[in-house]
Amino acid sequence: MLTALSHRGVILARGVNAHSCLSRVLHPPSACRSRRAMGSVSIPPPASLLRPLETPQRLLSGPGPSNVPPRVLAAAARQIIGHMHGEMLEIMDDIKKGIQYAFQTQNNMTLAMSGPGHVAMECAIFNTVESGESVLVAVNGIWGERAAEIAERIGARVNTIVKPPGGYFTKEEIEQALVEHKPVIFFLTHGESSSGVVHPLDGIGDLCHSHNCLFLLDAVASLGGSPILMDKQGIDILYTGSQKVLNSPPGTAPISFSERACKKMFHRKTKPLSYFLDMGWLANYWGCDGKPTRTYHHTGPISGFFTLRESLAILAEMGLENSWNRHKEVAEHLHKGLESMGFKLFVQEKHVRLPTVTTITVPPGYDWREITVYAMKHHNVEISGGLGPSSGMVLRVGLMGYNSNKANADKVLEALREALKHCHKSKV
Ligand code: GLV
Repeated sequence: MLTALSHRGVILARGVNAHSCLSRVLHPPSACRSRRAMGSVSIPPPASLLRPLETPQRLLSGPGPSNVPPRVLAAAARQIIGHMHGEMLEIMDDIKKGIQYAFQTQNNMTLAMSGPGHVAMECAIFNTVESGESVLVAVNGIWGERAAEIAERIGARVNTIVKPPGGYFTKEEIEQALVEHKPVIFFLTHGESSSGVVHPLDGIGDLCHSHNCLFLLDAVASLGGSPILMDKQGIDILYTGSQKVLNSPPGTAPISFSERACKKMFHRKTKPLSYFLDMGWLANYWGCDGKPTRTYHHTGPISGFFTLRESLAILAEMGLENSWNRHKEVAEHLHKGLESMGFKLFVQEKHVRLPTVTTITVPPGYDWREITVYAMKHHNVEISGGLGPSSGMVLRVGLMGYNSNKANADKVLEALREALKHCHKSKV
């Protein structure tokens, strides 16, 4: 596919060259200049766009996006159809069923947002929270920080419980905050990709409900790679992104709302601030509102929906449990290799290590940036630094979905082994 694209690019570029040679013969430079001067266009076409598109082949073993498998790339290359054609609506129905399976939910209010995981986070908060309401956010990395800021921007009373990167919350800590702040919604990150923690879920949904609070879970970095059972675990709002374990290009974001969440969001006193993210409209676009006809709201990313459909089909064929087990095995293989080379895993307690994104303490004396640059330049392997509160503290390796196999883990280990040999080490 890449080869096909570059081939087409070469032909296009040749076409451009042939055209400009011919035009030089027909119109010598002085004639060209005067023709240009007479025209209305004063900014020339950018030279870079007259060259063929080039993209490198890399192992995307950072925290996302991850590599896209051939079947999903092929879906992206299909000719598009109208966003409300019957066939498109059927594909959207397939996506809805795929998300219900991936999330383990029977929620009717299940769809894919047109946008990245961040859009799903805004959609969840914009629709379920009104100005002046109390919101509780668990902050153990960048995603909690961001959710708190979004809620603040709509005028909510935001309270946080905070742990340093790598930490997680006990049920007692969560309950104490629920009692104290009486929030309408509790935000938690399941897979904290900035610190490499997967948060234990059991009992939190029931706890929230016993305090009349909705449970909102961000699973952008974990869904499909670590167990989540939306209905059984009492999760009221759950979302993820297309570009991590699902291995679609970034740009679509599965989301689902429980009956309880629907009751809250469809009985608001005020309209949600965002028209684009208004679930009243989106529910109709996705055929979740029981109305016989769908009304135009926005033009969805049609190719993005094709790819998401294929990614969900791959997950359905593989089976969720197999996917969870594979991520666990590959992460353990990676962790063992890292430890045998002397690296320290950032998350101490094994049972809360996120199997999709591993955080490694930056080895003493090394500059994390130099290591990531070395791995990319010499091995075509992406390794990322920390993010938000974990910046400068960690290196991050993501092996998700299609990328989650031992051969890729070995490529990462090899790149790191060589980086330690060749990067500058200062005295510590
Ligand atoms: C993005 O999702 C990241 O964790 O860097």
